[in-house]
Amino acid sequence: MPNADFQLIVIGAGPGGYVAAIRAAQLGFKVACVDKLPTLGGTCLNVGCIPSKALLQSSDSYERTSHSLKEQGVIAQHVTFDFPAIMQRKDGIVRTLVDGIASHFKRHSITRLEGSASFVNPQEIEVNGKRYTAEQFIIATGSEPIPLPFLPFDEKQILSSTGALSLPAVPKTMTVIGAGSIGVELASVYRRLGTAVTVIEMLDTITPGMDAALSKQLQQSLKKQGIEFFLGATVTEGKILKNGVSLAINHARQSRVDAEVVLVAIGRKPYTTGLNLKAANVNTTQKGLIPVDGNFRTSQPHIYAIGDVIDGPMLAHKASHEGIAAVELLAGLSPTVNYMSIPNVVYTDPEVASVGMTEAEATASGRKILTGTSHFRGNARARCSGDLTGLVKVVGDEATGRLLGMHLIGAHASEMISEGVIALDKKATLSDLAHACHPHPTLSEAIMEACQQALGFAIHG
Ligand code: FAD
Ligand code: NAI
Repeated sequence: MPNADFQLIVIGAGPGGYVAAIRAAQLGFKVACVDKLPTLGGTCLNVGCIPSKALLQSSDSYERTSHSLKEQGVIAQHVTFDFPAIMQRKDGIVRTLVDGIASHFKRHSITRLEGSASFVNPQEIEVNGKRYTAEQFIIATGSEPIPLPFLPFDEKQILSSTGALSLPAVPKTMTVIGAGSIGVELASVYRRLGTAVTVIEMLDTITPGMDAALSKQLQQSLKKQGIEFFLGATVTEGKILKNGVSLAINHARQSRVDAEVVLVAIGRKPYTTGLNLKAANVNTTQKGLIPVDGNFRTSQPHIYAIGDVIDGPMLAHKASHEGIAAVELLAGLSPTVNYMSIPNVVYTDPEVASVGMTEAEATASGRKILTGTSHFRGNARARCSGDLTGLVKVVGDEATGRLLGMHLIGAHASEMISEGVIALDKKATLSDLAHACHPHPTLSEAIMEACQQALGFAIHG
């Protein structure tokens, strides 16, 4: 479109949108980024990854100082915590990071539009009564929590993750519906701070999609820490009482679960409310996703979509990766997003991190596979740090020797998984990893050892 206000308008300033806007500015585009929130960073920075990890860190520090230091010969007495200070620290971290993005926008001369964007026609949006045209658009409007029809969020007694990240006080009891990433992470936060937490999950296992052995081990660890689980259970009714919520559940062991607050964490759905996609002739699926082709193009070739609003895992790094790729495509470069090497991390204790195929997926693909495992209890560094609950599992292709998947449970799994990401991305073999010299003593030696075990020569196996 000649004489457009901008070459590119990005709608949504989450990790998909703000990263796309910065990359576009780096590549010389005249770019604007619009968000309806007063702060940049989207779900991830404001009410997702960052505040949840800040609370996980504070609660973990409290738990370790009160319970785990004794075995290292360190006696900490009268350990306590200051909940308002924990919340203030979380808010401060969020503030610093969202302000940081605002500075990046200024430095890159990105025009920031504040308000809800709505398409007027395929080439024009309206924000706060003003109209803006662009040659190309990227939609990065993210996702929102799914409510239970009979338990709508009030963020006081029936919480979404957003409410659970900003509670005024630690509740005595909490029921969590859904044992996905949000469910187990936030259950961990409040259990560590003294809340009696019950988790109700409709499937027979927690954290769907995770390698079965690791999911089982994670559940055992969380149960040992005091979280009660009702698996294979559904909630059939919810009654809001004066001081809590009473849920009727379908489970052989129990039929009611009462708690002060309920966190509903049964998944998220794409968010396009108010965008007026009809005016832009952009299609959505029945589930509300925006379908895109291999180049992130929607049904309108000059309108792209990335992140949670399109298909794929709802993860911040996936959204950012797609943002960069979409903009580089616009600039005529040839980027690729390797969906096989997008890692997934659950920040519980123990942490769980995985990339690539699980053993079940690799087997189902019809390949002959090799698997190797190495337990942290046989690892020297884990002995020193006391992090003995953990293991590395690798899955490889027998015919080619190539790594197909890596699955870690235990301390620092979130950091170590990047070795698997690079290995998968660069098509490395189990032998490459088994023969790469890893520093000693480190937990990462368990990755090398698991690969050695898969190939039949584990030194400490
Ligand atoms: P979002 O981050 O959702 O951003 C979309 C933006 O678009 C929002 O700012 C919204 O205000 C704006 N917007 C929407 N509609 C309009 C409109 N019409 N006009 C203007 N602006 C609009 N992922 C991880 O990878 N690691 C984690 O540890 C992790 N932890 C999480 C913890 C929680 C509690 C939650 C809820 C999520 C977590 N996620 C995590 C998921 C992660 O937050 C999302 O995958 C990620 O934010 C998606 O990025 P996005 O850019 O697609 O969308
Ligand atoms: P999820 O899809 O991860 O898990 C939802 C869970 O709820 C599933 O186990 C599902 O079986 C269960 N469930 C669904 N309906 C139910 C019902 N009626 N009763 C009982 N259980 C029910 O969704 P979650 O945890 O809400 O997270 C949303 C998204 O946010 C995820 O897709 C995830 O990618 C992202 N996220 C990522 C994190 C990370 O990377 N560490 C942390 C938190 C969220």
